[in-house]
Amino acid sequence: MSEFKGKTVLVTGAGGGIGGTTARLFGEAGARVVVTDINAKAGEETARSVTDAGGEGIFIAADISSQPDVDKLFDAIFSRFGRLDHAVNCAGIDPEVVPDPEWDFDVYQKVMAVNVNSVFLCMRREIQHMREVAQGTIVNLSSNAGLQGVPTKPVYCASKHAVMGLTRSAGLQYGRMGVRINAICPGATRTQMIMPNIEKIPGGEAVMNTALPIKRMAEPIEMAKAIMFLSSEAAAYMIGAALTFDGGLTAGMSPWEGN
Ligand SMILES: NC(=O)c1ccc[n+]([C@@H]2O[C@H](COP(=O)([O-])OP(=O)(O)OC[C@H]3O[C@@H](n4cnc5c(N)ncnc54)[C@H](O)[C@@H]3O)[C@@H](O)[C@H]2O)c1
Repeated sequence: MSEFKGKTVLVTGAGGGIGGTTARLFGEAGARVVVTDINAKAGEETARSVTDAGGEGIFIAADISSQPDVDKLFDAIFSRFGRLDHAVNCAGIDPEVVPDPEWDFDVYQKVMAVNVNSVFLCMRREIQHMREVAQGTIVNLSSNAGLQGVPTKPVYCASKHAVMGLTRSAGLQYGRMGVRINAICPGATRTQMIMPNIEKIPGGEAVMNTALPIKRMAEPIEMAKAIMFLSSEAAAYMIGAALTFDGGLTAGMSPWEGN
C-alpha cells in the first residue's frame, strides 16, 4: 500500500505543469489532494485528473500571493479535513524576457509577491499545523536560479534564492520537531512557464537543448517524481536541502563539440 494513501496533500499552482503533474501523481498514490491555483479552469481540470487517477481531488481557488486568500484556503482545509500531511509550494511566475524588464519595480514587486510572499504565507500555516501534530513534509519549488545567477533574470533569481533561504532556515528550525522542509531546484522543464519564451528564440528548443549539459529539457513528470521522493519516508533524513534536478546546470559548464 502506498504511504500516501488517504493522506491530505496541498499543491499550490497545481493548474500548471509541475504542480498539476505532482497533484496527479499523488492522486495515483491514493491521496486526497487539495489543488489550488489562481486559474480556476486549469485547477478544476487538475482536481478531476486527481480523482480519475484514483485519489480525491478538491479544487480551492486562491491567489496565493494574497494573505486573505491564503488564510481562507488553510481555514477551508483544516475545517473540512482537519489535517495536512504534505504540502508542495509550487505556484510561481517568471516574467517574459525582454531587455531589462526585471529592473522595473512593478515587475519586481509582482515576482516577489507570487514567488516569495506566497511561500512565506503558506509555510507559516503549514508549519503551525505540522508542528502541533509533530509530523509533515513541505517541498518548496526553488530553481537552479535559486543557487546561481542567470543573466536577464535578476529578480526571478533573487526570488528563488529567497525560497532557498526560507527552506534552509525553517528546515533547520523544525526538522527536529518532525516537520521536514526541503526544496527542489529544477532546471529547464517543459511547461507553459518557459515554452512560449523558448519558442521565440531563433532555433527554439533545439538551441536550448544544446545549451543544457544533459542536452534535453526535463519533463514535468521527472520533477513530480522527485517531489514525491522528498515527501516520502525515503527522504526521512533530509531537512533544509536543495535537491538539484537540473540536468547538470549547477554542476558546471555544458559540454560542447570540442570537449
Ligand atoms: N518550468 C521550469 O523550467 C522551472 C524551472 C525551475 C523552477 N520552476 C518553478 O516551478 C514552479 C512551477 O512552475 P511551472 O513550470 O509548472 O509553471 P506553470 O506556469 O506551468 O505553472 C504555474 C502555476 O502557478 C499558477 N499561479 C501563478 N500565479 C499564481 C498566484 N498568484 N496564485 C495561485 N496560483 C498562481 C499558474 O496559474 C500556473 O497554473 C514555479 O515555482 C517555477 O518557478 C520551473
